[in-house]
Formats: sequence, C-alpha cells, structure tokens
Amino acid sequence: MHIWILKIILLIASSLRLIEMYDNYGEICRNLCTCEEKEAILTVSCENRGIVRLTEISPVQFSMYHLLLTGNLLKKLSLNDFINYTGVTILHLGNNDISEVESGAFNGLQGLKRLHLNNNKIESLREDTLAGLESLEYLQIDYNYITNIDTHALSKLHQLTVMILNDNMLSTLPSNIFRNVPLTHLDLRGNRLKMFPYIGLLEHMDKVVELQLEENPWNCSCELIALKAWLESIAYTALVGEVVCETPFRLHGRDLDEVSKQELCPRRPSRRLCQACTS
Ligand SMILES: *[C@@H]1O[C@H](CO)[C@@H](O)[C@H](O)[C@H]1NC(C)=O
Ligand SMILES: *[C@@H]1O[C@H](CO)[C@@H](O)[C@H](O)[C@H]1NC(C)=O
Repeated sequence: MHIWILKIILLIASSLRLIEMYDNYGEICRNLCTCEEKEAILTVSCENRGIVRLTEISPVQFSMYHLLLTGNLLKKLSLNDFINYTGVTILHLGNNDISEVESGAFNGLQGLKRLHLNNNKIESLREDTLAGLESLEYLQIDYNYITNIDTHALSKLHQLTVMILNDNMLSTLPSNIFRNVPLTHLDLRGNRLKMFPYIGLLEHMDKVVELQLEENPWNCSCELIALKAWLESIAYTALVGEVVCETPFRLHGRDLDEVSKQELCPRRPSRRLCQACTS
C-alpha cells in the first residue's frame, strides 16, 4: 500500500519535472522563437523575427543549444551581448546588417564551435574581434566587406579548421595569420588577392586539404612561383580551385598550372652582360 502511494507520488513528481523542464527552456521559447529538442541539443530558431538588438532575446536554460538569428536586423554586436549564452555551440548571425563588432562581443561563447556571420557588413577582423572564441572550429564570414585582417585576429583560435572568407575585399592577407591555426579548409574566392607568399602564409598551411582561390586578380609574376610549386605539391590530395592570371597582360586568362616558371619569371639578361655583348 505504502509502496504504491510512493510510486504514484514519484511518477507525478517526475512528470511534473518533465513539464517544468519543457516550460523552462526560457521565455523566448514561449514567445518570440521556436525551440526544439533533439538528441540532447536544443535548437532555438529566431530567424526573420525583425530583431534589432540582442536585448530583445534572452538566453535559454539548456546545457547545449544552437541559436539561429539569421535574417534579422542586427547592426551591432556589443560588449557582453552573449555573456549569458554559454551553452551555445552553433550561432547563426548571417543575413543581418552587422557592421560593428565591439571588443568582447563574443564573451561567454567559449564553447562555440561554429559561427556564421555571412552576408553582413563587416569591414575588418581586428585582433580582438573574435576574442574568447577558443573552441571555434568553423567560421563563415563570406559576403562581407572585409578589407583588413589583423595579424593576430586568429592567433587564439587553436581549434579553427574551416574558414570561409569568399566574396570579401581582401587584397592581402597579413603575414603569420595562420600560424598555430590548424586550418584544413580555406575559401578565398572572389577577393582581390594578387599574390600569396610562402613565407608567413603557405608555410603555415600544411594541414590544408581544400583551398579555393578562384576569382582573384592574380599577378602572375616571379612572386607567384612559390604558390605554383605549393599547389603542385598538394594537388594530388587536395581540392584546389583554379588560379587564373589577371596580370601581366601577356598571361591574362591563363591558368597558373599551365604557365611555366620561365613565363612567370622571365630571365632578363643583366645590363652588365648586355654591355659585355655590345662592346
Ligand atoms: C547575465 O546574467 C546575470 C545573472 O543572471 C545578470 O545579472 C546579467 O544582467 C546578465 N547579463 C546580460 C547582458 O544579460
Ligand atoms: C605584378 O608583380 C610585378 C613584380 O613584382 C610588379 O612589378 C607589378 O607591378 C605587379 N603588377 C600588379 C598589377 O600588381
């Protein structure tokens, strides 16, 4: 008799706890966003809700979750905007209007593995822009206006393997940007790159298995010999996009892998030799 009562009480208590748990994801799951739990991960979908500021939403009570904020009207990410979002492992911020990312904006996201910032208006990656994202493995930041990346912008991202940077306005990458970054995939299509040195760049890319370099105005000069040699050395195992020469005019439209070293870097007779010939 007593055992029965106890069992019933336990049953009621546990089902109440279950109800409470579902209700306790957080306030945003009851109103603004839709939340779905699957295999111990909660997906919080707040896409296209007209959200202008992050103060309009609030964190959920869950140990691991994905936060989808794609297609809103965010303009600025401010200091500590995500400080109470420690459970987020995937954060989608694509298709907003973000032009400003304050230092410390990503504080609290030390467990974040994937960050999507595509289709925004970000102009630079400063030393502190990505500060605190020490678990980040995947960064998507294509279709922005990035012209400038600080040498130290990635230096604390020791887990970063994928970086999607296509369709920005990069004319150069800083020296040592990928030192201690275990990149395997890098997409640089549609930028303004003319050259790609070995020292300070290719030398740190030994783990790369996919590199996309199309649609850049490559200057096929002596300085591109290192890239040509590097592409040849990895071409059998890696997926590599075409590198087409923009300049000089005589090589315009040619594919780097079909241009000989001699064409890239014609040896001119030195002046002294010429003087010797004519005298
Ligand atoms: C984060 O949570 C703490 C403790 O609940 C609270 O005092 C603080 O205002 C929150 N910060 C933000 C930015 O929401
Ligand atoms: C291409 O590189 C050569 C050799 O470094 C340089 O003289 C030339 O100005 C460069 N052209 C462009 C368009 O950058």
